[in-house]
Amino acid sequence: MAIMEEEVVKIAAQGAVTELVINRPQTLNALNADVLNSIILAFEKLAEDPSIRVVLITGAGEKAFVAGADIAGMADLGPRAIADYVELGQRCMRTIENFDSPVIAAVNGYALGGGLELALACDLIFASRKAKLGQPEVNLGIIPGFGGTQRLVQRCGIGTARRLCFSGELIDAEEGKSIGLVDKLCEPEMLLEDVRKYAALIASKAPLAVRKAKSLLRQAHAVQLLGGLRLEIEAFLELFASADREEGMRAFLQKREPKFKAV
Ligand code: COA
Repeated sequence: MAIMEEEVVKIAAQGAVTELVINRPQTLNALNADVLNSIILAFEKLAEDPSIRVVLITGAGEKAFVAGADIAGMADLGPRAIADYVELGQRCMRTIENFDSPVIAAVNGYALGGGLELALACDLIFASRKAKLGQPEVNLGIIPGFGGTQRLVQRCGIGTARRLCFSGELIDAEEGKSIGLVDKLCEPEMLLEDVRKYAALIASKAPLAVRKAKSLLRQAHAVQLLGGLRLEIEAFLELFASADREEGMRAFLQKREPKFKAV
C-alpha cells in the first residue's frame, strides 16, 4: 500500500508486524470521521493478508497518541449527524477488537477520551513513561461514546472506571500500569522498539492458536459488551443534546473554563 504524506492513517510498515500511524499531529491526532473511516478501511484491507500476525498502532508526533474525538468537528453536529459519528466510532473500535490477530497500542503521548477508547479496543497497551491517559469527556458535558464506559470496566474494574469517568482526571503511564490499564511501561525513546520486539515474540508463536486465543478471550465478555455499547450510545446522544455539552465544547474551543448548569 502506498504511503502518502497527507494520509490521516498511514501504514508505516507492512509485514508480519504491521504498523499503523494516526497522522493528524496538528490536532494531536483527534479522531474525526475521516480518521475513523480510514482505520476501518485499513483493518479491512489488512484482514485480507493472512501473513499479518500483529498490528501496532501509534500516533504521529511527539505529543499525542490520540487526544480524543474531534471536538471542533463535533461541536456543531445535529442529532442525526452526531448519532452517525458515535456509531462510526464504535464500529471503528469493534473493527479493531474483532481483527483476527492481536493489535498493540503504542501510546506515545496523550491518550484521552476517544484516544484511550482506541487503546482499550486494542489487545495490549504499551505506554511511554511520558504518556497521559484519561476519559476527560465530563469537562465537555458528555461521556465516553466509543466504548470507554464498557471496556474500561472490563480492563480495570468498576472502581477505576468510576474514578476516571467521574473526575476526568489525567493519570500518568506509571499509575496506568499500577491499575492494569497499561500492560507495559517503556522509556519514551524505546517505546516503538519494545512494542516491535514484543510483537515479534507474538508473531513467532503458532498463528492459528494466537488468533483462537484472541477470539475466545473476546467472547468472555461479548454479550455484556454489546448490550452496554448500545446503552452507551443512547446516553451519549441524550447528553449531546444538553446545554452543558454545548457550553463544554464552546468553552474548550474558546480556551476558557466551562460554566455548567445541569441542563
Ligand atoms: N479535538 C480537536 N482538536 C483538538 C483536540 C481534540 N480532542 N485535542 C487537541 N486539539 C487541538 C487543540 O484545539 C489545538 O488546536 P489549535 O492549535 O488550533 O489551538 C491543538 O490540538 C493542540 O492542542 P493544545 O490544547 O493547544 O495543546 P496543549 O498541550 O495545551 O493541551 C491537551 C493538550 C491534550 C491537554 C488538550 O489539547 C486537551 O485537553 N484536548 C482535549 C482532550 C479531550 O477532552 N478529549 C476528549 C474529547 S471527547
